[in-house]
Parts: sequence; C-alpha cells; structure tokens
Amino acid sequence: MKTSTLFSLFAVTLSNLYLTLAQDDSNVTQEIVNNAAADNIDFSSIGDIGGALTEISGLWNQITQNTTTTYSEYTSSNTDSSVKRRKRRFGHSTRGSSALLGNRPSLSQFLSGGTRIDVHSHVVPDWYRLLVPVTGGNPTPTWDMTSYMSFMDSEDIDRAVFSFSAPGANVFQGQRLATVALARLMNEQAAAYCAAFPNRLKFYAVVPLPYVQEAITEAQYALTRLGAAGIFLTSNFEGTYLGDASFRPFFQAIDKMSGKKVLYIHPGTPYVKYNNHLIEANPTPYPTGNIEFYFETARTLMDLSLTQTIHNFTSINYIIPHVGGAFPAAIDRILKSAPTIYDSSLKIYQTRFWWDSAGPTYYHQVSGLLGYEVPKTQLVFGTDFPYAPGFTQPGSLNAVLSSTLLTDAERKALFATNTQNAFADVDK
Ligand SMILES: *[C@@H]1O[C@H](CO)[C@@H](O)[C@H](O)[C@H]1NC(C)=O
Ligand SMILES: *[C@@H]1O[C@H](CO)[C@@H](O)[C@H](O)[C@H]1NC(C)=O
Ligand SMILES: *[C@@H]1O[C@H](CO)[C@@H](O)[C@H](O)[C@H]1NC(C)=O
Repeated sequence: MKTSTLFSLFAVTLSNLYLTLAQDDSNVTQEIVNNAAADNIDFSSIGDIGGALTEISGLWNQITQNTTTTYSEYTSSNTDSSVKRRKRRFGHSTRGSSALLGNRPSLSQFLSGGTRIDVHSHVVPDWYRLLVPVTGGNPTPTWDMTSYMSFMDSEDIDRAVFSFSAPGANVFQGQRLATVALARLMNEQAAAYCAAFPNRLKFYAVVPLPYVQEAITEAQYALTRLGAAGIFLTSNFEGTYLGDASFRPFFQAIDKMSGKKVLYIHPGTPYVKYNNHLIEANPTPYPTGNIEFYFETARTLMDLSLTQTIHNFTSINYIIPHVGGAFPAAIDRILKSAPTIYDSSLKIYQTRFWWDSAGPTYYHQVSGLLGYEVPKTQLVFGTDFPYAPGFTQPGSLNAVLSSTLLTDAERKALFATNTQNAFADVDK
C-alpha cells in the first residue's frame, strides 16, 4: 500500500471521527433554545411553528457536514479561544471545501468581494408564508433557496443583504411573548441561510418592537452572535411610527453600540388605532402593498425627521427602499414647515441615507430624489425579490443599466462601492 493511500485512509478515519463527535455532542435545536432562554425568550409561546426549528437545525446539520462550521462556533464571537483551540486540535483540511473555518466572513470582507450587491431582497421560508399568507393585500410569494440563487445569478448579483419582509415579527399583534419568540426564530433562520452561503448572503435582523427592551436585546444578539449586517425596521410597528418617543431608547441603544449601525427602513401596512384595535388603514380599493407602501415610507421618514431622531443619533446609517417611495415629492412640503431643521435634514438625506433602487424606480422616479442634491454616491441597488412581480425584474435592472443620469463609473459604484460605504465601520 502506497504511503499516500495510507495517509488518505487515515484522513478519512479522522474526518469520520470528527463528524461523529460533532453530531453526538451538539444538538442545534437545544443550543438555539438555550441561547433564547438566556435572553428570557421562551419558544413555548409559539411552539415549533410550521416546523421552523426543525428546519433550522436540519439546515445546520447539513452545513456542519459540508464544512467545518458548527452552530456553536458560528454563533460565538471570533475571538473565542475555545473555538481556536478546537480548530487546532482537529484541523480542517479533510472536511469540505468551504473557505469558512468556523468563523463567518466579516461584513467588510463579504462586501469587498461584491461587484453587484443587492441590499433589498427577501427570504420566505414556507413556515413563514403559512403564518403570513397575505402581504400588503397580495398573496405572499412562494420562495426557496434554489430559485433565490438562480434569480441572483440571472441578474449577475454576487452578494445580497436580505431580510424577511413586512410584517417582520409582528404576526401576533399585541402579544409580547409570541412576538419576541418569533423574532428570534426568524433571525436564527436567517443566520442559518447565511452560514449555508457565506459568500453570497448576509442579513438584516428583525426586532420585536414595539417591545423596546426586548428589541434592544434581540438587536444585540443578532448583531454580535448571529452576524447580522444591520437591522430591519418596518415603517410602523403595530401602528406606532419610528419617531415615537417610546422608541427613543431603542435608537439610543443602537446609536451607542460600537461602530456604526445600519437601519433598513422597510414599508409596512398602515394602521389606525380604534378602541384598542388595529384596523388596516387603506382608504383606496387598491392593494396596500401596491401604493400605500410608498406613502408609508414618506410617513415614517417625515416622523424620523420632525422628531429629529435622525439628527440626534449620528452613528446610524439608513437604507431607504424604492429611492424613498413617495417621500422625495413631499420633502419641501414637510420641511418648509420646520425651517430650523430644513438644511440639517437635507444634509442627512445626502450623507447618512442610502437609497435603494428596488422596483421600477429608474424609469423616472429617481430624478425626484436627485433634485434634492442627493449625491449619486448615496444610490444603491435593490430588487425586492421575490415580492416584486417576476416580469418587472429585468426591466427594473435594465432601467438602472441604461439610465442616462449615471456615468459608467457612477453606475459601477451604485452596484457595489456605495453599499460598501453605507456599511463601512459597522464591523468595528
Ligand atoms: C435535541 O433537543 C431537542 C430540544 O430539547 C429535543 O426535542 C430533541 O429530542 C433533541 N434531539 C436529539 C437528537 O437529541
Ligand atoms: C451539502 O452538500 C450536499 C451535497 O453536495 C448539497 O446537496 C447540500 O445542498 C449542501 N448543503 C448545504 C447546506 O450546503
Ligand atoms: C433631539 O434633540 C432635540 C434638540 O435637543 C430635541 O428637541 C428632540 O426632542 C430630540 N429628539 C429625539 C428623538 O431624541
């Protein structure tokens, strides 16, 4: 027997041993439950919704078999010495071809490799679609990872920072425990997708607002343990807009975290409160998602501006979908009534806001935003997959590709560099 054969037999034996150990000494479901319990989150308030926990741990078991990444390594901090010890002990050359060695790529490593980065797309595991069968008055689209990856390939997208869509974790309105548990479950699912595709995917975490303390806890867990790139906020949480005084401690806490943080302000369904009930507030016969979402973006950016939330918390960058929806058309109307913050607000829209292209926004709409002297370095790329109807996707991309408003260099920056700048200093 040749030495090389002996050596590879030895290697195979070692790797099998490692696999056995990894499977025996870890139960991902139990670890997720334990991590949640450490933050006073109890999944029994919602159960294993639609098999969500089972799906998440099943995905982790595949990841662990295909790579050297285990759930506990991935969710521990990069400097955790026990992880380093373990890697030295077992080595990594015999298992899988992934470049990921337990630790996930940093956000800046991830983004710097991108040439077309999508900052606005969504995942919809079946268990979430069953909970939320209708989104903004339209059927929630079906989705799976294979079609997501095919879509990305078809538009030459090499990186995506994705989120769940509206209503985020606010499926059980008025129920604190269930909302908090669902947010954690969604973030665990998102992190598992990222671990499976470490060089394609990062995620924005959901938070269980309007429950402020719980939302701060979840943001901390998702950013530090799960490697979230930023935080997804809907335009309102159960009828409360983002500038509301009750949310101020949340913005304060995010602002105080190390480095900069990115908030991605996604439109959601508008509500009016009536006798302690929330009633969907759509005064027209058209589905909420088609038009009201644009007004929602305008409402919440108005609220964030007039309350000076965006002024006071300067370590926060914002990503705004659909190049601002209906907001740009309303800016002068809103701010001329608040003259003391007119200039300072525009300055923030020009420097700490990044505006994504998702939807049919580059036929004409983007001109309205650029009229406010928002520099083209603040423009980023988004698709809204799979919520935007499939037939509109190629046209929306082509409108960006053929826009005469952009030079080739500006377009190239829109697809990658501008996003890298939006997320610069988030890792620190
Ligand atoms: C893993 O932990 C979960 C939750 O405690 C438990 O229901 C399941 O039986 C455990 N699985 C194994 C294989 O031990
Ligand atoms: C693991 O590898 C198998 C076989 O190559 C593949 O079908 C599966 O999608 C991989 N799973 C993950 C999570 O990477
Ligand atoms: C921001 O600061 C201004 C000026 O001090 C204050 O009037 C306003 O209430 C603050 N708003 C928030 C959301 O902190």
